[in-house]
Amino acid sequence: MDSMNTYWTDRALLEWQVELGATDAILDAPVDRYALEAAKPAPEVKAPASPTPPVLQVEAVDPVRLAQTAADAASDLPGLAAAMEAFEHCELKLGARSFVFSDGNPAARIMIVGEAPGREEDRAGKPFVGRAGQLLDRMFDAIDMGRGHEQAANSLYITNVLPWRPPSNRTPEKPEIAMMLPFLERHIALADPDVIVLMGNTPCQALMGRTGITRIRGNWTEVLGKPCLPMFHPAYLLRNPLAKREAWADLLSLKAHLRG
Ligand code: URA
Repeated sequence: MDSMNTYWTDRALLEWQVELGATDAILDAPVDRYALEAAKPAPEVKAPASPTPPVLQVEAVDPVRLAQTAADAASDLPGLAAAMEAFEHCELKLGARSFVFSDGNPAARIMIVGEAPGREEDRAGKPFVGRAGQLLDRMFDAIDMGRGHEQAANSLYITNVLPWRPPSNRTPEKPEIAMMLPFLERHIALADPDVIVLMGNTPCQALMGRTGITRIRGNWTEVLGKPCLPMFHPAYLLRNPLAKREAWADLLSLKAHLRG
């Protein structure tokens, strides 16, 4: 029998069963439809549609802007120190023992800017008191200047780019520098020195936007409208004593500039 014949035969049989009153196709074994009904999963009850929650407009915190606002609001050095110490957006604060603001005479003609406190500075709460700091004192002593000099004209004012010690004395990262820069700029504006001395790459990065201390040291430049001299960091001089020759030339240049 070809397939066309099968189709017409099957159809005739089906129509005949329908005429006899059949309403369901029957399988070889009976189907218990009551049991099937009971086994059906309960219809899913849909929760009533809730209204779309409002989109929260969370403004991203910009630590540089917050630092700028806090720094601008400080009208004197104690106010600036308080604003910096209260600044909560630099994670270095969490790992540091002390907040290290400055040392020396705020009325000094020279303001020295270092990198960040190390272990000794973190303990003492003062900048440049460890081995590098002792060398810094000897260097300036050689040109009759010092942080505790009895004559204001020969005194020094010392600070760092960062007031908190980075873990294991690692180099400060660019976002940390950027975040604390408004405070440093305000610090310089309030102390108003005649000359700024930048010790090593980190303050050069912060205030000049460049590094490469071996090439830029000894070259006078201008930062925030003030004469500025980049020098080797004393910690570098401890590791590279031969570079003390250049450091001595820079100290003499500084002295000549002040006599100027
Ligand atoms: N090095 C710095 O740059 N600053 C300090 O205060 C101590 C070491």
